[in-house]
Amino acid sequence: MRAQVIYESIFGNTAAIAEAIADGLREYAQVEVTDVATAAESPVPSVDLLVVGGPTHAFGLSRARTRADAAAQTEHPAAVDIGIREWLDDAPPAAQATRCATFATKAATPKWLPGSAARGAGKRLRRLGYDLAEGPADFLVDGVKGPLLPGELERARAWAQHLAHNEFDRLTRRV
Ligand SMILES: Cc1cc2nc3c(=O)[nH]c(=O)nc-3n(C[C@H](O)[C@H](O)[C@H](O)COP(=O)(O)O)c2cc1C
Repeated sequence: MRAQVIYESIFGNTAAIAEAIADGLREYAQVEVTDVATAAESPVPSVDLLVVGGPTHAFGLSRARTRADAAAQTEHPAAVDIGIREWLDDAPPAAQATRCATFATKAATPKWLPGSAARGAGKRLRRLGYDLAEGPADFLVDGVKGPLLPGELERARAWAQHLAHNEFDRLTRRV
């Protein structure tokens, strides 16, 4: 099984979750992890499972303005020019019904806010003809910059293992 994880991250928390997800998938799949700026320069990957995630900004997927707000708070921002929203808005329809899953990071503190970038990404992928393999998953950071809450990397790895196990089962049952 081939899988690709594509992520957006300004402060690095979503990047860390993306790597933990890739670790979890590796038990059942060959996995590549790509940030969205790099993904935007390549054709959409032809894989069995596409996993897409980003930080929740203003209750959903980031926009240029929210990324600029975030980038102003760190000396080492990543992927500011393009986010998951823009990448998916420009992506071609799925060539075939490829399976996908989405994840997001969001602030657990100072207070719980509604909304998730994972839901926005899932809606866009469905519109492009992808099949959602799993409900959206949210992983929590402390405040705006993080770090991730204790246990979130392990939870991401376990979520991905479960996802990959189910998808591997599904693929092998089809043969
Ligand atoms: C401009 C901006 C808006 C944000 N809006 C929300 C929000 O609506 N809900 C939420 O839970 N977290 C919100 N956050 C916190 C982000 O989700 C958090 O910065 C992100 O998970 C960190 O991921 P990263 O390290 O990969 O950039 C916001 C952060 C920024 C900078």
